[in-house]
Amino acid sequence: MRMFKKNKIDSNKVPKHIAFIMDGNGRWAKKRGLPRAKGHEEGAKRIESLALSAKKFGVKVITLFAFSTENWKRPKEEIDYIFSLLEKFLKEGKESFMKNAIRLMFIGKIDELDKKFSDLMYLTMDETKNNTGIILNIAINYGARSEIVEMVKKVANDCVCNKQEISKIDESVVESYLMTYGLPEIDLLVRTSGETRLSNFLLWQIAYSELVFTKTYWPDFKEKELEGVIIEYQNRNRRFGGLK
Ligand code: FPP
Repeated sequence: MRMFKKNKIDSNKVPKHIAFIMDGNGRWAKKRGLPRAKGHEEGAKRIESLALSAKKFGVKVITLFAFSTENWKRPKEEIDYIFSLLEKFLKEGKESFMKNAIRLMFIGKIDELDKKFSDLMYLTMDETKNNTGIILNIAINYGARSEIVEMVKKVANDCVCNKQEISKIDESVVESYLMTYGLPEIDLLVRTSGETRLSNFLLWQIAYSELVFTKTYWPDFKEKELEGVIIEYQNRNRRFGGLK
């Protein structure tokens, strides 16, 4: 028998944690005859309202892929522009983060960034740390393989220093060395723009996540699209390797 597909969000089955690969800013701009920078600017504008929509639907954490370890290959001008958008977002967004109880967190090699940015990121994390509405976790200078390499180094180091026993290393120990430690499991990963790659994002953490790929370019991804991917998620049958 074919199951009846839901077309409204079931508030009892809302994904706790959604990760987004925000793709398609460049193509959004190109389609309109605009410079790529305009696509990033529009893309950045979506973030705050998307966090508020996610909060309204009952999502607890959203993780956004804003800048990968591979994105350094882009022209310097574009890189500088993306970081200037981040700076603007954090400075101008502060009032809203406090008013709307948005907690900012970051994953990635933050300490390798220009100190002006890392200082601002640490400050924002600290200032918003008691906000309990939703966590907005931004991945900057992040790569999943690099995260795994760092984890291995830390575990090895702790074994050498007798802080960790090899025989006691299990999945939960590995998790405790990852940058996402303490956050809920990622239930749903969304990539916009029609590309169907993971691009080195959260490889360990998405082992059992539902994956949704939308045709929408990131700057067009609004509340209605978020609602759509949550409904798609709720129509999936998650089995975690078992039978249901
Ligand atoms: C992918 O689109 C997007 C990025 C690599 C950058 C994402 C950055 C932002 C949304 C703005 C800054 C972030 C914050 C947190 C304020 P693309 O350029 O690869 O698009 P294309 O594939 O169509 O060229």
